Order: sequence, then C-alpha cells, then structure tokens
Amino acid sequence: MERKAKGHVKPTRSVSSNRWMHEHVTDPYVQRAKKLGLRSRSAFKIEEIDAKYRLLRHGMTVVDLGASPGGWSQIAAPKVGRGGKVVAVDLLPMPGLAGVEVVTADFSTDEGVAAVVAALGSAGKCDLVMSDMAPNMSGIGVSDQAKTMYLCELAHDFATRFLNPNGAFVVKTFQGAGFPEFFKALKADFLSVASFKPKSSRDRSPELYLVAKGLRRATPAST
Ligand SMILES: C[S@@+](CC[C@H](N)C(=O)[O-])C[C@H]1O[C@@H](n2cnc3c(N)ncnc32)[C@H](O)[C@@H]1O
Repeated sequence: MERKAKGHVKPTRSVSSNRWMHEHVTDPYVQRAKKLGLRSRSAFKIEEIDAKYRLLRHGMTVVDLGASPGGWSQIAAPKVGRGGKVVAVDLLPMPGLAGVEVVTADFSTDEGVAAVVAALGSAGKCDLVMSDMAPNMSGIGVSDQAKTMYLCELAHDFATRFLNPNGAFVVKTFQGAGFPEFFKALKADFLSVASFKPKSSRDRSPELYLVAKGLRRATPAST
C-alpha cells in the first residue's frame, strides 16, 4: 500500500506485516532451514511428527498435500527411498525434487484429485497421506477456520479412499469451530488418533496436527 504524505509517496507496511517480517528473520527455525538447504521451516514440523510417531518408512508411497515449496517432501523422499514414492500436490508450482512427483493442481476439485490418483500409478493406493494444506488467510477468524476445516475434510475423505488398510494420516488443523467433530470423525476411521503441537509450530498459531494411524477400513476408491 502507498500513502501520500506532504507531496511525496512513501511505501508503508502494516504493523502485522512488519511483525511477521521481524519474526521471520529472527526465527531460529528459519535460520536453520536456510543453513540446511531446506525449502521451508515447516520441514521441522514433519521431522518432529515423524520422530514421535514413526510414520515414514522405506518403500512407502506418500501423498503430500499442500506441499509447496517442498519442505515436507524434502524430509519424506529420502526416508521412503528409491523403493518408495512421494506425490507432492499444491496449487502453487514447486521445483522438482529427487524421488518426488509434483502435481500442480487444486485439490478441492475433482480434476485435482484425479491428477493425484493418476500419479499414484497402477496400485492406486498409498501408505501415508500428510496434509499441511492451508488456505490464504483473510484475517477473519470465522472464515479462515471454516476454510481450514474444509481442506481437512477433503484430505480426510481422500485418505479413507486411497490409503492402504492400516495406512496413516497426518493433517494440520486449527483448534476452533469444527475441530471436535473432525477429531471424532477421524476416531471412527482410524485405530488411534493423537493431537500434536510441534515445537517448531509458532506458539501464537492455532495450528495443531492430528496423527491418525491404522485405517480401519477403506472406502471404495471411486473418484
Ligand atoms: C503451509 S503451506 C505448506 C508448506 C509445505 N508443507 C512445506 O513444507 O513446504 C500450505 C500450502 O497449502 C496449499 N494449498 C492450499 N489450498 C490448496 C488446494 N486447494 N489444493 C492444493 N494445495 C493447496 C497452499 O498453496 C500452500 O502452498
């Protein structure tokens, strides 16, 4: 935004974007990610989740929803190794990574889901669905919460249709409206469901990850 003051034009930044910028440049996770060549500080979140829940294993097929710029896929690809596969899905383009098939698509459309299923290949199934999808935040709490929970539901629906029996699902949620119902729905579909706030998740963020293990039964996988 530009504001005119006494005849000259001075670019200004909002208080919140200044605060974000300050936090970002001084954030130890951002600095560590840079040093390690990781594409995002989010990479540390899946690393923490995996250290606690032991999800990523050699030979697995993993679907990474909301993958761009690629931090989670960077952690997952070496763990699944050459015998496995990571399908990374995002609205935004993402530079390629070894062992990762990038699908640039809107996961909320039938076409987007079909593109992900096509990337799974002939097996048409996966062992882990991990979703870090987040909508563009408007700052209007009710609306952001509803959009976030909608993305969670889309990911959950996909997980129940395309996970192998006993597969696992990790999803970023926001604590708020719709969260208790979503938690309950996961409990009906998986043998165990845990909530986890990684240390690398900012304290002031309402985000909370749900880790669901042991899909009880797969829903028929018609797209
Ligand atoms: C927090 S970022 C993900 C960061 C990523 N996990 C990483 O480690 O680099 C959330 C992503 O969700 C994506 N997203 C939101 N809605 C989506 C949709 N409908 N389909 C696909 N991706 C979506 C956004 O484009 C954004 O890149």
